[in-house]
Amino acid sequence: MKNAIKHSLSLKDFETDQLVAIIRAAKRIKQYPKLFSEALSGKTVATLYEKPSLRTRVTFEVGINKLGGRCVLLDLSDGGLGKRESVKDLSQNLSLWVDAIVARVHSHKTLDEFKVFSKVPIINSLSDWYHPCQALADILTLEEQYSDLEKVTLAYLGDGNNVAHSLLNASALYGFNLKVITPKNRQVHPNVLAFAQSIADSKGLRIETSDSLDTLAGVDVVYTDTWISMGDNTCESQARSLFMPYQVNQALMERHGIKFFMHCQPIHRGLEATDDVCDGQHSLILNQSENRLWAQCALLVYTLAPEYLQGAE
Ligand code: CP
Ligand code: NVA
Repeated sequence: MKNAIKHSLSLKDFETDQLVAIIRAAKRIKQYPKLFSEALSGKTVATLYEKPSLRTRVTFEVGINKLGGRCVLLDLSDGGLGKRESVKDLSQNLSLWVDAIVARVHSHKTLDEFKVFSKVPIINSLSDWYHPCQALADILTLEEQYSDLEKVTLAYLGDGNNVAHSLLNASALYGFNLKVITPKNRQVHPNVLAFAQSIADSKGLRIETSDSLDTLAGVDVVYTDTWISMGDNTCESQARSLFMPYQVNQALMERHGIKFFMHCQPIHRGLEATDDVCDGQHSLILNQSENRLWAQCALLVYTLAPEYLQGAE
């Protein structure tokens, strides 16, 4: 019999209708949080961090509390994950005591291993490959600005990293058009691209990649991320020379008639984006940040208390 545990290691763990249900739930929880204040009553979620975090850590803890659950935080930033005891043993033990495990890890392989040995759902709160919780918040943010995402084109500029990978999955599975513009030697992984493109093609969506800013014509929203992700040992001078042509600044926004700016944060102001864009009228960065809370609440309810979503509009 198929394992019924609802793991969320990437958006590929979801069908389109499931993502639609999660985003619908996020809107409802955001509008009527009190209706969900006991959704996780009696439940405990472990959140585990191998890497630093502000948004993810606070929004998961606040969200779990808002839903009536308890959060146990494990700081594993000392490099000890898999050393003091194996990932197998950690996963088997943790899943005896808690109802779900949210993990931010260096290597996506760690999550794959956690999943094999866990009896409770695993939620990826960032790995070197994917950042699905961020992508859920980003979809919610776009949904709040546009009535029909299939008519929207988002451009991702910069490093072909975990955030870019999750945007590719979001574009294909949820349904918006995406241009990924990266330097030639920092492209997204071909397998991630191929998966997204095959789904996008079947739905009539456009996913394109390029190293040229000339392809920004017709773009509604531009998204960028740090040029050096956590765990990436590229030095700053190397990153500057590689990525500076891809900086998002006011001149770029105006030249291409782009309306909105997005960034998952933390931002390195003056590098991947300038202050005028980050703080401008059309910056959605704080909307994204706030929506981390509601999107993750929705994911937790969907995973641990789906009865709360039955019959919801
Ligand atoms: N965007 C994001 O995941 O932020 P943190 O690294 O602060 O959690
Ligand atoms: N790509 C970045 C995202 C941070 C939220 C990183 O992995 O460090």
